[in-house]
Amino acid sequence: RGPDTYSPTGQKTGAPQDKVAQAGEYLTTAQGARLYDTDHSLKAGPRGPVLLQDHHLREKITHFDHERIPERVVHARGAAAHGVFQGYGTAEGISKAAFLGKDVETPVFVRFSTVLGSRGSADTVRDTRGFATKFYTSEGVFDLVGNNIPVFFIQDAIKFPDVIHAGKPHPDREIPQAQSAHDTFWDFVTLHTEATHHTMWNMSDRGIPRSYRMMEGFGVHTFRLVNAEGATTLVKFHWKPKLGVHSLVWEEAQITAGMDPDFHRRDLADAIEAGAYPQWELGVQTFPDTDDQMFQGIDLLDPTKIVPEELAPVQPVGLLTLNANPSNFFAETEQVAFHVGHLVPGIDVTNDPLLQGRLFSYLDTQITRLGGPNFGQLPINRTHAPVNDMLRDGMHQTAVHRGVAPYRPNSLDGGCPFLAGADTGAYIEVPADVPAGRKVRDAAASFDDHFTQPRLFWLSMTPTEREHIVSAYTFELNKCYEQAIKERALLVLANIDADLCAQVAAGLGLPAPEPTAALTDPQPSPALSQLGDSWPLD
Ligand code: HEM
Repeated sequence: RGPDTYSPTGQKTGAPQDKVAQAGEYLTTAQGARLYDTDHSLKAGPRGPVLLQDHHLREKITHFDHERIPERVVHARGAAAHGVFQGYGTAEGISKAAFLGKDVETPVFVRFSTVLGSRGSADTVRDTRGFATKFYTSEGVFDLVGNNIPVFFIQDAIKFPDVIHAGKPHPDREIPQAQSAHDTFWDFVTLHTEATHHTMWNMSDRGIPRSYRMMEGFGVHTFRLVNAEGATTLVKFHWKPKLGVHSLVWEEAQITAGMDPDFHRRDLADAIEAGAYPQWELGVQTFPDTDDQMFQGIDLLDPTKIVPEELAPVQPVGLLTLNANPSNFFAETEQVAFHVGHLVPGIDVTNDPLLQGRLFSYLDTQITRLGGPNFGQLPINRTHAPVNDMLRDGMHQTAVHRGVAPYRPNSLDGGCPFLAGADTGAYIEVPADVPAGRKVRDAAASFDDHFTQPRLFWLSMTPTEREHIVSAYTFELNKCYEQAIKERALLVLANIDADLCAQVAAGLGLPAPEPTAALTDPQPSPALSQLGDSWPLD
């Protein structure tokens, strides 16, 4: 199945895109002239030399020379599929987004990815996985650009280049390719203790999913939904796989990385081809949109924190089914461009400083990656809603715009008949209050507690899961060259749980340190403390 094509104004033309480049019975040049031979260059006699005038040779090789585009700066390796999202209508009371309406069916494209490895790296490495969904809704594109882990390493987007520099291969040797087993990664996450929670999830079985089809997905940030009456609700998005959550064990992951580095993308494509369509339920945890955007002592703007489902259950709002493989990896999986700023009426952002920075980053990087500002016209990125913007020209412009006055109001193009305004179903930002305060480069004190949630995570694990976590920390830290980094990592673990720390210390052959007051000072929320009392399983 090829992607559908759309006219410059967004009207579906129906012709499959691949026909555009593959029409007719004859082999031709890119300009449509029929070729009589594409296997031999034009030479002065059969043994050459080759003539510079061979324009077909030069067209063919020049095009080949430019086939590669930059890989994504993060999430370079991925696999994707087409599908459909069906709204249950259960979210209608809290969001006016049309695609959440009862039985509304919306085409989607979902790309799963690893974060740190290059395009050619192995699938089953220990890493976070991306879970990005493009909803081609009747009101424009909505992208839910999430991960399979519900928290993030950092609390402010200004640290993103730093955490990625630390996680990518060392600049001198360009190793390791796609794992957390190295000095710069552990240096960063032990010097930035807000990374402890995400790191703990990575060291758990969640870091080595069995299949993309068996992963949860999370929007991570808190979003703000708004209903038809203008009432707002804060939410966190969750994808729950119908197949349940399953992981590899570490030995399987390592062997599979060697024997079948394409394991996850093969699994996804094979399942869809066999008709075993993977499904996820989309759900939301909901929180009152209070002035402080806190819930039971948890700062909803801090992306290193979850809200336990015991405190706010996930309520299903729709069903995602992936039912078709891409027909061309480059055209679709490689060229798709997700952006947290692709929003539709009914869904808005919050002040989470990580989310605010992401709102800048995606469009910016895609201008480089996809060669200019018109990548929205690529078939995979095109909205299914009619487009009538005033953007013009630029690299790779494929629309032939009519009219002379791309501004409004104007008195030339038929008196500017295009409608805009509040009563047109337009996207309107929620007029939320901006907190009064001074300009500061600071984090809120409510972002300070870095250990309570990793501790809850550890305590909520079964004995087998805990064994896996201990082994993962031991394996990865043993790869570090610097003793001081291992010791600092143990200090972080001491502040989570003495038993965890002691077991990893034994694996590293180092003494287990005592927790430090400075690291444990901030007080956890009372609701979390109570959960902590009830969670230990053994
Ligand atoms: C790509 C998720 C934080 C910058 C991606 C992708 C996902 C993702 C899933 C891959 C999209 C695809 O499949 O094409 C997340 C999540 C984050 C996060 C869940 C935190 C909650 C950030 C931050 C920044 C950032 C803070 C920068 C300030 C990027 C960039 C790309 C990317 C530059 C490559 C996009 C492209 O080339 O199309 N992210 N990300 N991300 N992310 Fe993030």
